[in-house]
Amino acid sequence: MKKTSRKAIVVLAAGKGTRMKSPRAKVLHPVLGRPMLARVLGELKAVENASIIVVVGHQKEAVAFISRAEGARTVVQEPQLGTGHALLCCRDALEKLGATEVLLVAGDVPLLPVDAVQTYWGEFSASNAPAGVVTLGLEDPAGYGRIVRDALGGVKAIVEQKDASPKELSIHEVNSGVYLFRTGEIMEALLKVGRDNSQGEYYLPDVFALFHRKGAPVLSWKAGDSERWLGVNSQAELARANEQLRRMVVEQLMDSGVTILMPDSVWVEEGTTVAPGCILHPFTRLCGRTQLASGVEVRAYSCLTDVVLGEGTLVKEHCVLEGTKAGQGCIIGPFARTREGTSLDEQVHLGNFVETKKAALGKGVKANHLSYLGDATVGAGSNIGAGTITCNYDGVHKHPTVLGERVFIGSDTQLVAPVTVGDGAYVGAGTTVTKEVPPGALAISRAPQKNIEGWVARKKGEG
Ligand code: UD1
Ligand code: CA
Repeated sequence: MKKTSRKAIVVLAAGKGTRMKSPRAKVLHPVLGRPMLARVLGELKAVENASIIVVVGHQKEAVAFISRAEGARTVVQEPQLGTGHALLCCRDALEKLGATEVLLVAGDVPLLPVDAVQTYWGEFSASNAPAGVVTLGLEDPAGYGRIVRDALGGVKAIVEQKDASPKELSIHEVNSGVYLFRTGEIMEALLKVGRDNSQGEYYLPDVFALFHRKGAPVLSWKAGDSERWLGVNSQAELARANEQLRRMVVEQLMDSGVTILMPDSVWVEEGTTVAPGCILHPFTRLCGRTQLASGVEVRAYSCLTDVVLGEGTLVKEHCVLEGTKAGQGCIIGPFARTREGTSLDEQVHLGNFVETKKAALGKGVKANHLSYLGDATVGAGSNIGAGTITCNYDGVHKHPTVLGERVFIGSDTQLVAPVTVGDGAYVGAGTTVTKEVPPGALAISRAPQKNIEGWVARKKGEG
């Protein structure tokens, strides 16, 4: 007869993470730009028909915020008396969900391979075991709970590092901290777990000795790719997880047809998409929700956050682009800075030391040198001379600058907003534009030039 099971997932995230020595709760530390808890929860969404409960405690508002954003519910554990106590705190919530099977994972395992977890879960569901544990064979097992096996190879107990005998310390098979339980059995067992140990905590892994004593055999799976199951407990381990995930992403991109020069130096976050045929040069960073269409080239030391680039656009060296959209065939940089709300049509050229903010530049616009374009609209085909500044801020409010199509703005122009320049108009170099320039007009506001013959020689007393 087919058993009916209802699945739930409990993610432990109440601890402080003392070994991180950081004011920030451990699970909030980012891995490749995303809080590690958010990543774990995001991956766990792949498990169908399973409600997720996150146990929160330390910095619970921030941890709960991330949990809810990923569609999980939360249970508060206060005070934090250990991993066994943390699961016990979920008793009512699990009962309400009617969950018969529970996957338990820690929020500090950012690379958790959820596909393997699902395979194990399938085996667990088909068994009668009250519990199952994923184990790892580690060359250096320091810090982990050791798996003590009986004469027949069954799991006899899990012993924490701090409570282990010298003989147990020499065991290299460790507890990954990922378990599957039958809800009724685990809750009953947890009520029997004490806290008479070196840390004075209710240890979740103690239930394995209880099941063994009861003669209820448990399952165990020795995971192959142990790097993916490692918990982050220290800054060094956080750096290792970052590096591992970074490498996974970069390798996937290369497999998909992206050219990456010096892959060890390139940082690409998981929320990005990079089309085949793109080229990423050394020390480039693609962050947030950046999307690059085919043929985009990003040269060295450029950092893109939430940037969408059309086909064939080139970002030269040392650019900082944020919240920007650009069409195909644009040339940006070197040393350009585009800020939130910049949108560039096709074939726009933005050169060195040009800054934009909330600026919409039409097709083929050129602003090649030393400019600031803020709260500005520039029509197609216009040319912005070197040193042009939109004076968009009067100290209290921001005002718009609207330039028409095919406008020519001479060098060193100040556009004092709010101001408009009509289609085809010219503005002479050095002009301070303070009122509307009609279409086709020339605006110029220079003091007339005066030449005083022989002045230099007279000053030097030579005349
Ligand atoms: C735990 C296991 C150890 C295993 C290792 C794998 C215990 C006692 N030991 O050790 O056998 O090898 O994981 O990584 O379980 N947490 C709470 N409430 C608490 C205590 C902890 O929610 O009261 C959370 C933490 O925030 C963390 C997770 O539980 O996300 C694991 O706690 P941690 O202190 O990292 O356990 P380890 O010492 O790594
Ligand atoms: Ca841990």
